[in-house]
Amino acid sequence: MGGALVKGWYAASAQGCHVEEDDTLQLTVTARSQSTLDRMRSACPGISTSLSNTSALTSADVVVLAVKPWLIQQVIQEIASALDARPRLVCSVAAGVSATNLQQLFHQSDAAVEHAYFYCMPNIGAEFQASMTFLSPASGTSPADLARVESLFSLVGRTQVVDDHLMGPGMMMAGCGIAYVMRFVRAQMEAGVEMGFYPRQALDIALQTMEGATALLRATGEHPEAAIDRVTTPGGVTIKGLNELDHAGFNSAVIRCLKAGLH
Ligand SMILES: NC(=O)c1ccc[n+]([C@@H]2O[C@H](COP(=O)([O-])OP(=O)(O)OC[C@H]3O[C@@H](n4cnc5c(N)ncnc54)[C@H](OP(=O)(O)O)[C@@H]3O)[C@@H](O)[C@H]2O)c1
Repeated sequence: MGGALVKGWYAASAQGCHVEEDDTLQLTVTARSQSTLDRMRSACPGISTSLSNTSALTSADVVVLAVKPWLIQQVIQEIASALDARPRLVCSVAAGVSATNLQQLFHQSDAAVEHAYFYCMPNIGAEFQASMTFLSPASGTSPADLARVESLFSLVGRTQVVDDHLMGPGMMMAGCGIAYVMRFVRAQMEAGVEMGFYPRQALDIALQTMEGATALLRATGEHPEAAIDRVTTPGGVTIKGLNELDHAGFNSAVIRCLKAGLH
């Protein structure tokens, strides 16, 4: 996930995008292994990399933690004192680690400075600047700090600021949602191949159809059912397919799928 974000921010930077006016993006990536850093440098030529978290963040205004959730505490213990010179924006993408958890972990690490903490939940669309990112700040976060983090994540897609209790549902809809959309695309392809298209053609048709549907809803702001009415001729073929979806329990399957990870 960290790599996807870096690639998205790198692309935004190459496009001349700024977090705020005159606030250019300077990225430093850390990892445990040199091979990961070498991969990042070849994907993003000119980027700074380091095997040392503490030296990487001395000049950083924003720190993004993108390790597995069970490593967050260890990394915070490692970096807390190195961040003591001034307050920073600390963003974690670790699933289930709330902004309040982050704050507590910094306090437990005897951090001498109060930072601004954010639980951020992007998806891998970030690499292509098409993430859906949910942001949940710790209570008491200043509007200016929140605006800066929103601006940062807006460089790699769309953002929504939500209450902490919506981070899990957001992750199911947008993070895991990417996998569910892939399954829909696969199903469309399989039908297309059965009806006579080559897989490449079927993939192109499925993706372009999805882009058309997305463009329509974004441009009109319509409810999907209103858009469906537009393409559904009474007694025509579209309604036959729609009713087949209903008979097969499509709606219910999608709802159950999106809620499954919350139990
Ligand atoms: N995957 C998703 O779609 C997604 C979406 C939203 C949020 N997340 C969250 O993103 C986090 C990372 O998930 P992932 O799937 O990207 O994991 P991952 O593939 O294992 O990547 C973790 C990265 O962290 C590096 N790392 C590990 N320990 C480190 C340390 N002590 N200091 C510096 N870097 C360290 C690793 O470096 P090496 O490569 O050198 O080992 C690796 O590059 C998780 O907390 C997850 O909940 C993931």
